[in-house]
Amino acid sequence: MPAVIELDLGDSHADITDHDVYTKGVPHATFLRLRTEDPVSFTEEHDGRGFWSITRHDDVLFVSRHTELFSSAKGIRLEDMDLEETEARRTIMEMDPPAHSRYRRLVSRPFSPRAVADYETSVRELARQVLEEVRGEQAFDFVSRVARQLPMRMLGTLLGLPEHDLDWLVDRGDALIGNTDADFTDFVVDQVDTSAYRLLPFRSPVAVELFEYAEGAMAARRAHPTNDVLTSLLQPTVDGDLLGDEQLKNFFTLMVAAGNDTTRYSMAAALNALAERPQLLESLREDPGAIKVAIDEMLRWSSTTMHFRRTATEDVELRGTTIRAGDKVVVWYVSANFDTEQFDEPFHFDAARSPNDHVAFGLHSPHLCLGAHLARLEMRVLFEELLPMLDAVSVTHTERLRSNFISGFKRLEVDATWS
Ligand code: HEM
Repeated sequence: MPAVIELDLGDSHADITDHDVYTKGVPHATFLRLRTEDPVSFTEEHDGRGFWSITRHDDVLFVSRHTELFSSAKGIRLEDMDLEETEARRTIMEMDPPAHSRYRRLVSRPFSPRAVADYETSVRELARQVLEEVRGEQAFDFVSRVARQLPMRMLGTLLGLPEHDLDWLVDRGDALIGNTDADFTDFVVDQVDTSAYRLLPFRSPVAVELFEYAEGAMAARRAHPTNDVLTSLLQPTVDGDLLGDEQLKNFFTLMVAAGNDTTRYSMAAALNALAERPQLLESLREDPGAIKVAIDEMLRWSSTTMHFRRTATEDVELRGTTIRAGDKVVVWYVSANFDTEQFDEPFHFDAARSPNDHVAFGLHSPHLCLGAHLARLEMRVLFEELLPMLDAVSVTHTERLRSNFISGFKRLEVDATWS
């Protein structure tokens, strides 16, 4: 019988908007209370107009699927943006069908299950390379040495980018996604005046550097087409649709920002869960076939992307509460993933959980994560390669990202015994 691990569910009345709260961990007790007592609850904001929190799994599903009632086009973060800001910063994420469907067709080819299956050999080679660099070391930071490296090098391989640019690029992606954490950016949005950058992604001047880099990479592919993902994004679809230059730059920036840190933090949360459960680590090592299923429990457990926002397009009644047209509505994926109505014993890490309808990648709705197959592949291959060489691991020090949006360990120092 595996040991039962007591989880610290945190404060039951935490301010869920406060970035600092999440440096201590997700306040699961607060989400548990909201799911039970107030599943459609209103939160006032000191710097915004307030928002509705949707915390139950089936309500998150309802909101995500009804894109005609809950639009992504007016912003997907808590931040209030005026029309000019929204237009300037629009990516695939801030679109509704049918425009979203057309755009998604343009970018989805390299991320389809069939395309991703072909990347397995490259992912495995990179995973082995990354692990060889750290193998034998007793104490190291798993985040910077392993979890950051694999998604970063794989993105470099996919986009055909030179290896010596990758650290620089990923640092810039981190500055965008980590725009509330002073370890990642000098332009911490809630601490310094970022109004001069309000038309840039994540209100950050760093986005300009990524745009310039993307322009250069695209010009090079136009002059000398290769068989990488960037070149394929420059080709028209079968219907003759083509991405414009602005859309390409935004999409490039989105891949660098959204494709790296999310996978990295999910890998780190997974290793932390295994370090806390030595018996599980051993059983997965003995039965590597079970890793594939375990990956989805790791994704549920880490719930790296904690929320996304929608805007009501008309008055809607949900669980007896009227949400008015124009109101901000936040779907808390991190709460839905621990809803007892959906998951038996959600605070128990069940590596064999099946079915496991977690919403770590969003839902089976138009905005379901485009990189889901890639992220799953990278996580599976990493653990398939790592576990046979790892006898034991314990975590000696952790630091969490300061963010109400992305949950993750920015440092996970471990002591490892290698076989
Ligand atoms: C474990 C890793 C990942 C997690 C937890 C994650 C999470 C998510 C979530 C929750 C969404 C839904 C957004 C919404 O509801 O509006 C999303 C969308 C998206 N993700 Fe991921 N993601 C991961 C990895 C990746 C990777 C590797 C890439 C690309 C290289 C990627 C690219 C995207 C894109 C482009 C979208 C927008 C899709 C759309 O709006 O149609 N993600 N992701």
